[in-house]
Amino acid sequence: MTGPREDLAHRLASARDRTLLLTDHDESELTRQHDALMSPLVWDLAHIGQQEDLWLLRRGDAHRAGLLPAPVEALYDAFTHPRAVRDRLPLLPPVEARAFCREVRGRVLDRLDGLGDADDPFDFAMVVSHEQQHDETMLQTLQLRLGPPLLGTGTPLPPGRPGVRGTSVLVPGGPFLLGVDAADEPFSLDNERPAHRVDVPAFAIGRVPVTNAEYAAFVADAGYRTRRWWSERGWRHTLDAGLERPQFWGRDETRTRFGVVEELPPDEPVQHVTFFEAEAYAAWAGARLPTEVEWEKAAVWDPASGCRRRFPWGSTEPTTTLANLGGTALRPAPVGAYPGGASAYGVEQLMGDVWEWTTSPLRPWPGFRPMLYAQYSQPFFGGDYRVLRGGSWAVAPSILRPSFRNWDHPFRRQIFSGIRLAWDT
Ligand SMILES: [Fe+2]
Repeated sequence: MTGPREDLAHRLASARDRTLLLTDHDESELTRQHDALMSPLVWDLAHIGQQEDLWLLRRGDAHRAGLLPAPVEALYDAFTHPRAVRDRLPLLPPVEARAFCREVRGRVLDRLDGLGDADDPFDFAMVVSHEQQHDETMLQTLQLRLGPPLLGTGTPLPPGRPGVRGTSVLVPGGPFLLGVDAADEPFSLDNERPAHRVDVPAFAIGRVPVTNAEYAAFVADAGYRTRRWWSERGWRHTLDAGLERPQFWGRDETRTRFGVVEELPPDEPVQHVTFFEAEAYAAWAGARLPTEVEWEKAAVWDPASGCRRRFPWGSTEPTTTLANLGGTALRPAPVGAYPGGASAYGVEQLMGDVWEWTTSPLRPWPGFRPMLYAQYSQPFFGGDYRVLRGGSWAVAPSILRPSFRNWDHPFRRQIFSGIRLAWDT
């Protein structure tokens, strides 16, 4: 029998195992700035420990002394130092960063031991989520890294059902319950709450994400040189940045994935596209992108029962036969690989594989209240972001819910981002 303390200890341990695996490289790999968009891996490592110290040992009180001297701790403040300059900071070397994380973790486990049944364990879950989110960030860094492969080619995935490519399902109009409450999802983050009814007009949505083969047809049809598929801003960005195809694609139907050059798998969801590219592809395909509200309805609403499902497929926790999550595959699964993971409407691969761009800017749900880490969502509301939904193959299943909201600038594509189409009916 496992209680909440054992469950949290397990969540903390699996996040740490993953962090240590992703940072089990030579010192030069860890301290190098692989790309201006990303931190050196050793920054992520010590920042994970610093945040754990702040939220779990000091309950978020930055005025209380932590385990690091204040000037050193300040190096790991994400709001102070832009990623591009972090390799020039006097960061803790990898050995010291690991020792610091270990020291923090020891004290955190002592605190967990003393956690009473009446205590709210939300802060522990929030810190697990933070660490797992940084593990995905580190995979982006490792994908951008040049040099011989460090991670191999990934674990096997189920085969696809190519017949589902390009098909769609209808989601009839009507109200549904958007978002979640702490009572049902105690580990949900502030921007997912509270649950509230919204009316959504009928729409159609892609049964599966857009594949490499479909996207390659857009590239071959001069999609990147045809102004009319692009928004004004998207067109300007594409010209300025010299975009011609998704990031990491070669000219010859190949791609580079974690240092390995391989043939482009036709039935795998396309990834590493900006919001602008997703939008242009959708226009070319005679479609549009979904809103995040449409996305969530297609994922969780069960029209037969008039209730939300916990996951698209029902209430059971994600498994390797339901979704591609956890980061070991190092790639999305071919479309149709998870028929058992379909939502009530028959939409597949909503969880895992690729983050799906939506047209929605990040805004608070009515009744929003910031959580303990008040800077997590609030500073980003109304900014130049688009919401992405569903998680990628790199997301840990333990931190993902259909209500989870990710956001990024519409011009970013080092993230594991892909496309799902929608249509007005
Ligand atoms: Fe962080």
